[in-house]
Amino acid sequence: MKKDLLTIEDLSVSEINEILELAGALKEKRQCFGEPLKGKTLGLIFEKPSNRTRVSFEVGITELGGHAIYLGSYEIDLGKRESPKDVAKVLSRYLNGIIARTFSHKTVVELAKYSSIPVINGLTDYQHPCQAMSDLFTIKEKKGLIGITVAFIGDGNNVLNSLLYICHKMGMRINVACPRGYEPGKDVLKDVAGSAKIFNAPGDAVKGADVIYTDVWTSMGQEKEYKKRLKAFKGYQINSELMKLANKGAIALHCLPAHRGQEITDEVMDGPQSMVLDQAENRLHVQKAILIKLLK
Ligand code: CP
Ligand code: NVA
Repeated sequence: MKKDLLTIEDLSVSEINEILELAGALKEKRQCFGEPLKGKTLGLIFEKPSNRTRVSFEVGITELGGHAIYLGSYEIDLGKRESPKDVAKVLSRYLNGIIARTFSHKTVVELAKYSSIPVINGLTDYQHPCQAMSDLFTIKEKKGLIGITVAFIGDGNNVLNSLLYICHKMGMRINVACPRGYEPGKDVLKDVAGSAKIFNAPGDAVKGADVIYTDVWTSMGQEKEYKKRLKAFKGYQINSELMKLANKGAIALHCLPAHRGQEITDEVMDGPQSMVLDQAENRLHVQKAILIKLLK
């Protein structure tokens, strides 16, 4: 039976812990870990732009001895030139795995349904599970996971959804501050009840928090709402004043790309509490561990 990674719900607590452990070993040894993907080819179907996800997956696949083929929106033209169902069935005859970044989450669900090979979600409008797995690794590396409170300031988006599910699964508290009308969906909040607390004011959410996290106010696919969101999210910014309200030694995280001066200031991004570059690097190690687990 093939295994997909479409949402955090696809992973059990023990699978998450195994991936974290393997990622730690891979980080330590970097390229000296044999070639578990030797002879295997993976396709990266990307409907949206990417720096970290594309490059870290391609480098990771190379380091594991495999081969990656990047299929941008022009090559496949998913849903227009060919249906996700037909794409999935055909690619299953050539490839050993698919990493897909799509606008609609339904598209990756469709790809997974009709593929006989593992499908990994590289970001949809609903979740970004590889990001959350790497974030958990970074939190563990910097702060440990016991008794930790995470605070997310900003939009109730894909990155937050995956973070909420992973915190809930791992028994971590998460405080969220969103402007009214931009909270995570009701279904998500119901699923993570008991772990997540929703606030309106950023200052209330960061009190007692060890990890302060943010993401862009306007995600890919929402560009038409840019001006409206600029107004709605004013004040939902990680800056030095906000960091002072968090626990001593708190770290600042951002999945990147960042809109400096909007959701995060230069001072925090480039300051001593910022772990954003380690966070970005960890995508590589964690995704290599995910690939080994799903493709072994
Ligand atoms: N964080 C992240 O997924 O970055 P990219 O959009 O550049 O891949
Ligand atoms: N929420 C952002 C994350 C980018 C990595 C987006 O979907 O554009």
